[in-house]
Amino acid sequence: MTAPKSYFVKSYGCQMNVYDAERMGELLEADGLSRASTQGEADLIVLNTCHIREKASEKVYSEIGRIEKAGRSREGGKAMIAVAGCVAQAEGAEIAARARGVDLIVGPQAYHRLPAMVGSATRGERPVDTDLPTLAKFRALGTARKAAPSRFLTIQEGCDKFCTYCVVPYTRGAEVSRPAATLLEEARKLADGGTREITLLGQNVNAYDDGAGTGFADLIAKVADISGIDRIRYTTSHPADMTGELIAAHGEIRELMPYLHLPVQSGNDRILKAMNRSHTAESYLESIAALRRVRPDMAISGDFIVGFPGETEAEFEDTLQIVRQTNYAQAYSFKYSPRPGTPAADMDDQIAEEVKSDRLQRLQALLNEQQLAFNAASVGTRTSVLLERAGKHAGQLIGKTPWLQSVHLHAHGAKTGEIVDVRIESAGPNSLSGVLAERKAA
Ligand code: 5AD
Ligand code: SF4
Repeated sequence: MTAPKSYFVKSYGCQMNVYDAERMGELLEADGLSRASTQGEADLIVLNTCHIREKASEKVYSEIGRIEKAGRSREGGKAMIAVAGCVAQAEGAEIAARARGVDLIVGPQAYHRLPAMVGSATRGERPVDTDLPTLAKFRALGTARKAAPSRFLTIQEGCDKFCTYCVVPYTRGAEVSRPAATLLEEARKLADGGTREITLLGQNVNAYDDGAGTGFADLIAKVADISGIDRIRYTTSHPADMTGELIAAHGEIRELMPYLHLPVQSGNDRILKAMNRSHTAESYLESIAALRRVRPDMAISGDFIVGFPGETEAEFEDTLQIVRQTNYAQAYSFKYSPRPGTPAADMDDQIAEEVKSDRLQRLQALLNEQQLAFNAASVGTRTSVLLERAGKHAGQLIGKTPWLQSVHLHAHGAKTGEIVDVRIESAGPNSLSGVLAERKAA
């Protein structure tokens, strides 16, 4: 078989996977491959999978089937198929046995070995690597990055919390924080390349602790000191790790954006306990109130699960209640999905599908209403927007407000990477449009 010359990474799931996909691309490019603009043109297709909710593996099998049917062939062979990400980690051996068309399987902590594995697949082997050497991976990846106006930076991986519904502790492994010095080097290189905004990523990002004296709030302060970095975000946080120091940082660090994704999952304490969440509805609301005391314009986003085993109608209504009390700018909500191997999957009182669907629909109606109201309230205001990319129409640019709302506007000479002052003129459920404030006045 000849070696693949081009690659395409198709990523599913969370932002961590987006980061991993970028880094896999960087590795393959360093190895001489070029990025294909579509999956259909690529010699090597990497499926960077997600295992968080149901039908994860079925989706992967059907994608593999589609690729095989499309019959893409490179010189001397078919397109090489790699399965990466959390499904590879959880079900690598089964995939290797069931999907003969898959050439290699690499877990989320082993993808620094991807170029070598592509080499062995080219020689006709079918390598499988689902080791969990998180720090070795980061050492091998190094700190050189391609810059863009807004970039993700993984600072922590894995989870020790073991919420009873969640597969992440099994797919990403134990909590590991990267050393602060290498993170700051990666951040500085991004800033030197023109990056203005960094989103610090981790499954439990606010549990960051490098074991050498740098905690999460210290790390944020150090990233904020890097010249060129004007905006900092972080995700995903656990409510139990919202320390007083971190909350205070929101009032003190100008670069820290007034928007926080803080999943609560449920508004009922009995359900939270059954989920093994180490917070209560009240402690969650208190953290939000404390954040808003130091940063009154703080916008909150969340994750919710409806229909956890045993959830009664009254317990579900507590979730609606916490939504009303918090007032979300944005949110993700899901029907509980039993994940094999997690404690909740074996609990009695699994909730009927129709009940889950009904609750999800009621919750989403309320969340959508709040999101639209949040966006509508920005009409007529002036706000800073980081211009991130070109829009669909000629001359159009798309950027983000401090509250992570997408804004469409006409560039009038402004360029991606600039932070401009924008007057918001209209709002929809998912985006805003506006005009450059100073140019309108001219
Ligand atoms: N079922 C439904 N939703 C889940 N999540 C995690 N595990 C499950 C599950 N088994 C949701 C949680 C989490 C988000 C990333 O996905 O809300 O915060
Ligand atoms: Fe999906 Fe979780 Fe893995 Fe991210 S970490 S890819 S959300 S299973």
